[in-house]
Amino acid sequence: MKKITKAVFPVAGMGSRFLPATKATAKEMLPIVDKPLIQYAVEEAVAAGITDMVFITGRNKRAIEDHFDKAYELEATLEAQGKEELLRVVQSVVPKHVNCIYIRQAEPLGLGHAVLCAQPVIQNEPFAVLLADDLIDGQPSVVKQMVDVFAQHQCSILGVQDVPRAHTKQYGIVGSTSLSLNVEKVHTIVEKPQPSVAPSTLAVVGRYILTPRIFHHLQKVQAGAGGEIQLTDGIAALMSEEQLLAYRFNGVRYDCGSKLGYLQAQVAFGLKHQDLREEFAAYLQTLS
Ligand code: G1P
Repeated sequence: MKKITKAVFPVAGMGSRFLPATKATAKEMLPIVDKPLIQYAVEEAVAAGITDMVFITGRNKRAIEDHFDKAYELEATLEAQGKEELLRVVQSVVPKHVNCIYIRQAEPLGLGHAVLCAQPVIQNEPFAVLLADDLIDGQPSVVKQMVDVFAQHQCSILGVQDVPRAHTKQYGIVGSTSLSLNVEKVHTIVEKPQPSVAPSTLAVVGRYILTPRIFHHLQKVQAGAGGEIQLTDGIAALMSEEQLLAYRFNGVRYDCGSKLGYLQAQVAFGLKHQDLREEFAAYLQTLS
């Protein structure tokens, strides 16, 4: 039985929806309260037992590498100042048993191409893909839920949720039939269909478990929606020879690729933050 030990984080995107905030830094470094989006995604993978984090990076993404690296000067300063709690926060960004691996995607050719860039590291193993823009608050972590589904079915799995029909053109949309309570057997997948032609309203939201056979198909995919090499098109080809499942995860998803979703996440995580929740809730009361 195969185990998932590697996760791919495509982080080369420009973040144009958050300009000018993302002019000189990575959109994945935007914080929700006090942690950058990418750290939430890495923590979700760690909680699923994943040990190798593969980041597909690009220009202007150095901050991500620095974030998961040891910060000698900062740690020495905090230690000298006796700021032990902050020192612990800085040192625990990534657990010691976790490896961070960085691959540069030289050209922004699309999500499918970004995943293909991970092939030399993933080789012949099944793996997870997490899009840090999709912040999902789940207990257990959504990737852990999907790893458990994988343990049972040993095939590719897409994290999905229902979206309003008017929004289908923002997502990969699946057509499926129900297999069990939260698991669907996928028979079609289309990237960003117009609402009138979408096969359903079940959208893929930034969590995937894929078998390594996906690389074979991604190598052959031609540019699709938006002129990019789409992961969705590779998955559609994979489906012609392997079973593909969709999993309706338990958790609340925030679309942090949009300003509204990002603000909603700030409020939700602010209200859960142990140092802030009471004062923040009281502040929100004053607004209503
Ligand atoms: C990407 C995928 C899409 C998926 C979405 C989830 O689109 O191409 O299939 O539904 O992520 O957030 P993007 O949001 O990068 O345009």
